[in-house]
Amino acid sequence: MERTLILLKPDAYQRGLIGEIVSRFEKKGFSIVELEMLRVTSELAKKHYADHVSKDFYPSLEAYITSAPIVAMVLEGTGVIASVRLMVGVTNSLEAAAGTIRGDYSTSKQQNLIHASDCPEAAAREITIFFPESKYK
Ligand code: PPS
Repeated sequence: MERTLILLKPDAYQRGLIGEIVSRFEKKGFSIVELEMLRVTSELAKKHYADHVSKDFYPSLEAYITSAPIVAMVLEGTGVIASVRLMVGVTNSLEAAAGTIRGDYSTSKQQNLIHASDCPEAAAREITIFFPESKYK
């Protein structure tokens, strides 16, 4: 069974959209096998966004992801990685299709509500970062 890591980012928490977003995944039929609310530290941000640490936008991305609580979860289901990416929409919310989470609830490229693993290798790496004790790695 395939698994993916989801982060509901600080803007999802601050705007009261956690329930709405979790509900979409439940209604779709994916199983939540891990779920935790936490505050991302600078160290955790650098681990998770290791590929982006040297990019111009990284300081702003780290300030954002550490600014308020997030909800991390692991979803499980057949084809869950690609399907969830479709449900999330493209990075820049202004360009995300209507009906996607970013397309429906965000206008921002940085404050884009949600992270979802983009491939099986990323999912395995990211699940280990956020749920090191999990049996669903
Ligand atoms: S890239 O540049 O193509 O590798 O970026 P992308 O894969 O689309 O996005 C990687 C994560 O960085 C965030 N991002 C940004 N944050 C702030 N400013 C700018 N300009 C920016 N561009 C990308 C983006 O939201 C991605 O976060 P996650 O959590 O992985 O969705």
